[in-house]
Amino acid sequence: MSKILIINGPNLNLLGLREPGIYGANSMEAILPTLRQMADIEYFQSNHEGALIDELHRVGFSSDYRGIVLNAGAYTHTSLALADAIAAIKLPVVEVHISNVHAREEIRHRSLIAASCVGVICGFGLDSYRLGVEALLRL
Ligand code: DQA
Repeated sequence: MSKILIINGPNLNLLGLREPGIYGANSMEAILPTLRQMADIEYFQSNHEGALIDELHRVGFSSDYRGIVLNAGAYTHTSLALADAIAAIKLPVVEVHISNVHAREEIRHRSLIAASCVGVICGFGLDSYRLGVEALLRL
């Protein structure tokens, strides 16, 4: 019941290098120690849609986990398969984004996964992950 899984989707392995004006200068590894003071955090990143779905299936019915914080990257806006996987599993999923997707291009305004998630956090930089963990701890 105590673990929280953070899943990052495509291109988020490049945090710190990728478009720092949008995504900041810090890597995920830089913030994980702080998050690990809040909860027992596992971290998974993949650039592959099927691998993200496999990871959701792997933990999604386990009583060892409290929930999942998911930044699906661009798959947020395109993947019905990811939405189906979130709807299929038992664990709550919090959708997070580093940038405020609603202040960006119109194609990023729509999330196919939001309706299957317990809630959405976006626009707080890497702090969005901390807020996502906090949300799961308070559920
Ligand atoms: C993102 C927003 C998405 O639109 C984009 O494709 C990403 C990152 C974010 O965290 O702000 O890869 O999910």
